[in-house]
Amino acid sequence: MPEVAMSRSIRIKGLSRVNGTLSVPGDKSISHRVAMLAAVAAGRSEIRRFASSVDCRSTLDCIKALGINIGESEDRVVIDGCGLDGFRAQDGLVRLEAGNSGSTIRMLSGLLAAQPFTSVIDGDASLRRRPMRRIIEPLNLMGCRIDARESRFAPLTIHGTRLAAIDYVSPVASAQVKTCVLFAGLFANGQTSFTEPAPSRNHTELMLAEFGARFDKSEADNRMSIEGGAELRPVEYSVPGDVSSSAFFMAAATVLADSQLIIRDVNLNPSRTAFIDVLNDLGANIQVENLALRHNEPVGDIRVASRELKSEKRGTVIAGTTIPNLIDEIPILAVVGSQVEGRLEVRDARELRVKESDRIRSVVAAIKSLGGEIEEFEDGFAIEGPQRLRGATIESAGDHRIAMAFTIAGLVAEGSTEISDANCVAVSFPEFYDLVAAITPHGTVS
Ligand code: S3P
Repeated sequence: MPEVAMSRSIRIKGLSRVNGTLSVPGDKSISHRVAMLAAVAAGRSEIRRFASSVDCRSTLDCIKALGINIGESEDRVVIDGCGLDGFRAQDGLVRLEAGNSGSTIRMLSGLLAAQPFTSVIDGDASLRRRPMRRIIEPLNLMGCRIDARESRFAPLTIHGTRLAAIDYVSPVASAQVKTCVLFAGLFANGQTSFTEPAPSRNHTELMLAEFGARFDKSEADNRMSIEGGAELRPVEYSVPGDVSSSAFFMAAATVLADSQLIIRDVNLNPSRTAFIDVLNDLGANIQVENLALRHNEPVGDIRVASRELKSEKRGTVIAGTTIPNLIDEIPILAVVGSQVEGRLEVRDARELRVKESDRIRSVVAAIKSLGGEIEEFEDGFAIEGPQRLRGATIESAGDHRIAMAFTIAGLVAEGSTEISDANCVAVSFPEFYDLVAAITPHGTVS
């Protein structure tokens, strides 16, 4: 892990600019999915640029604990899938650790529900506070019994069984829930369908096609279905850069004067790029170059240069079906909002309260620590800019996206900003501080 990301707190000098060309690590969402599907495919998959995040490490460690052989070298991960019935547990029980990773526990549970053994899957203190009813309910309907603390929190004890296909209409627009049910559907007897209330990221759908699953989707009503029992073929997969990790740099180059950045080979799946659209609507200069399709995922280079941002006269409201598309970018959107002329309001984002931290509360507290003003709602916030931010100590609440968003705020603020618990960035982006140091003047990060 990079040296700078290991220290507990990080100090940032404000009023900087960013310049250069960079690559961000492989996409976290795609890496979780490709590893889990490769583990149940029939044969050897090779994955290039697998995410370096600690969350994706949790996924690999769980798969290894299930008896799957994984080889790792500098540039690739090799997974020897043993087919749909390839997982093994000693004496009928396996214990798994998901760490901080909601994706690991929720998605993997779909596979564990179908095993002929019991799995106990747990996580850190933050993960133990996050809602699990949303996956327990559909898996119960498929016939799997799950014991959970207070019936809704990790650790989960999943009593694997033969699953029945269901038609599930999800109350939440969550790609993790969707993935859990579709993964369970791979094993069920017959056709499982899943309907989401609004489109969430569609990596699972695209990837199921790559692995040769019998999968069908009707865009019109957000409904999709999967046929159980079909063997999956292994893949050779090259993971694109993570657009959510790129968002911090797009924001920095936009709001810091005299900045220009090129970010190479980034995933540009339209179910993940609302953040770029919102910034461009505010007047940003973010352009996509060399757009191509790889494994059905759009990828390209991002070129961004600084611009003054301005909201519409009546203010800009980000709400409704846009929210799932930029859910992970909302902390950095708040930082951008503090520099936009006019009002920016985020609504319908109650989900933020059950992320790695209560992200509405964390964002509001951090903006206020920097001397800024922000209005808090149950389902979002409103911020009016441009505001003068002053360096301060920011409590990251151990939440990687709060630490990274307010590192960028620290570049914008006057004076120096300290981020507590900064090593939590490794959850999604271990190289973050090294990259910030590489694109800012010497001595900005210490
Ligand atoms: C993810 C889905 C989102 C997102 C998370 C990754 C995924 O969570 O916040 O960082 O890879 O499917 P929800 O499904 O809970 O909305």
